[in-house]
Amino acid sequence: MQFDTPATTNPIDQLTIVGQSIPRIDGELKTTGKAIYAYEWDEENIAYGHPVGSAIAKGRITSMDVSAARNADGVLAVVTTLDVGKREKGKQNTANLFGGDEVQHYHQAIAVVVAETFEQARAAAALVKVDYAEEKGVFDLSEAMKTAVKPKDAGGAPPDTAVGDFDAAFETAPVSLEETYTTPDQSHSMMEPHASLATWDGDELTLWTSSQMIDWWRTDLATTLGIDKEKIHLKSPYIGGGFGGKLFLRADAVLAAFAAKAVKRPVKVALPRPFLVNNTTHRPATIQRIRIGAERDGTITAIAHESWSGDQPDGQLETAVMQTRLLYAGKNRMTAMRLAELHLPEGNAMRAPGEAPGLMALEIAIDEMAEKLGLDPVEFRILNDTQVDPEKPERPFSHRDLVGCLKRGAEQFGWSTRGKPGTRREGDWLIGTGVAAALRNNLLVPSAARVRLDQDGVVTVETDMTDIGTGSYTIIAQTAAEMMGLPMDRVKVRLGDSRFPVSAGSGGQFGANCSTSGVYAACVKLREAVIQTLGFNASEVVFENGTVRSGTRSVPLAGVAGPDGLSAEDTIEWAELSDSHQQSTFGAHFVEVGVDIATGESRVRRMLAVCASGRILNPITARSQVIGAMTMGVGLALSEELAVDTRRGFFVNHDLASYEVPVHADIPHQEVIFMDETDPISSPMKAKGIGELGLCGVSAAIANAIHNATGVRLRHYPMTLDKLL
Ligand code: MOS
Repeated sequence: MQFDTPATTNPIDQLTIVGQSIPRIDGELKTTGKAIYAYEWDEENIAYGHPVGSAIAKGRITSMDVSAARNADGVLAVVTTLDVGKREKGKQNTANLFGGDEVQHYHQAIAVVVAETFEQARAAAALVKVDYAEEKGVFDLSEAMKTAVKPKDAGGAPPDTAVGDFDAAFETAPVSLEETYTTPDQSHSMMEPHASLATWDGDELTLWTSSQMIDWWRTDLATTLGIDKEKIHLKSPYIGGGFGGKLFLRADAVLAAFAAKAVKRPVKVALPRPFLVNNTTHRPATIQRIRIGAERDGTITAIAHESWSGDQPDGQLETAVMQTRLLYAGKNRMTAMRLAELHLPEGNAMRAPGEAPGLMALEIAIDEMAEKLGLDPVEFRILNDTQVDPEKPERPFSHRDLVGCLKRGAEQFGWSTRGKPGTRREGDWLIGTGVAAALRNNLLVPSAARVRLDQDGVVTVETDMTDIGTGSYTIIAQTAAEMMGLPMDRVKVRLGDSRFPVSAGSGGQFGANCSTSGVYAACVKLREAVIQTLGFNASEVVFENGTVRSGTRSVPLAGVAGPDGLSAEDTIEWAELSDSHQQSTFGAHFVEVGVDIATGESRVRRMLAVCASGRILNPITARSQVIGAMTMGVGLALSEELAVDTRRGFFVNHDLASYEVPVHADIPHQEVIFMDETDPISSPMKAKGIGELGLCGVSAAIANAIHNATGVRLRHYPMTLDKLL
């Protein structure tokens, strides 16, 4: 189905099931431990693989001595990067995952040791001896930025944009700001590490793994192994978090496949926790320069945002200026992004890539401007709202209610009681409040599904969509139930299998809207098949309460299909409509912090998010996404930072004891409000993304609250106590 006209009324709008707060249908499986994750799948005669990572960041392997490892207890095989030789790289990978003598980053996989037990494999992995010819690498972004270049492309967008005459307008603006902000390298640190179980049957590979994007992984695994994609069966029905770290094929899958081939047995490989940091991807650090000029009444006349980030050769930018192209009005504007070559582990997408770190800077700058202008920061943002793409005024937003979010949030939060910086004190704590706006784009990706009505009136949905803890199973079941007029318990959902139609997958907050739209399209076809089977007049048919009704005739869905069932399959595809409008999601974050007067320790005391994100398909699962994102925003604000060893080129704090993510004690009262809206241009579901929006702006709201509490302006994340003293 091509979605090319604004959605008018359709069965989803009944909202008898879609839009309802339905607890997740996989919840019981997960809370009772019955949902089986990649490393837990069982096969006869399993062997265990343990990776060996490079001890240098850049250079070549001159020799490897695996004799001690091979002779160790229980060891079945040692497969080295030299054994498998140089491999063609998957499209989505920047550095090689395995194969050849070139080392591109620290902890790049250079061998897998396979043994009867995990412990034997781990012990033997320490016995592999490697000689390197080490080369000098570049690991310091503040140095590398001096030779950074303008890449051809910034994630499908131009690296530079300009409208009007920024320099002249900035020069003459009565009130102006020029500041530099930095965000550090950050780690996804999802709970379930990357893990795979590989089994070969002749030349066919079955791989249980933990992947956000089944088809991307399958394609890239085929390339790296040098086999036909059709020979690979990939399964990833449950995933213990991803945050972008499992968008692209990773080394666990490749190592498991080579290891299983070598020992002719099923092999499990999980990346040990330290490997998550240096073997896989991270969100790259940024250096961001922002300049804003305004009239004395607060009208922004000039706005510029420049960002520098680094990556491996052939790598990508962190697109940190994207939101500045869209968030506020201003006649004269420019943005620019530059990419430095670094030889750290490869950077890539982490939850709300671009906007999350970009808003960490921009929304402090906006707060600073409001202060200079003597305006309330909520008022200043409302004053500079825009209903069209400020770089292309002929292009309206499909739906934009940032102003509504700010107003509703200010009222709910009690914003009007806010004091001047450094004036509120409770015992040893200085108290402050802060606000930030949120914007994250709404991306559209084709998504297919297959639905089958069986003899008993049960509908089964199959799509390779993944559920990374987000609630995909539930919203897909809600969609099919609404479309077919069935209660939830008459719908079965099967996800995460490469034998099912290719979905949007879980990424870029597009998963929910796009995958349910694909299910919608397939259900439209299934409804047609049912109507045709019954010989009904299509225009009069209603599907409800397990029956199909036309005029005075009402037929139960059970019994419509024969023993083979009735099947339908379709893909939602997105036509030009999506180009004529800018599709984004909006929000406002309000935060209250306390800062200890003696230690400088900051504690978040209360948080409120107001989100305008189209139709909310399920308020429970959407709220879970937003409070999870708010929690991540607390981490990015106060503690999360990968410390770079700039001499040897690796991230030093490679475990959860030293890469500090928030714990329960760090997270106070969190409230989420969804604006009551639909976006008929976004999809037949009239929904948009929500999973990444919840993170956008949170950390800046915390920074602004710390300023309000203390009068100290922090521009460098994370805002640890040493920066306040
Ligand atoms: Mo998201 S960073 O596209 O999983």
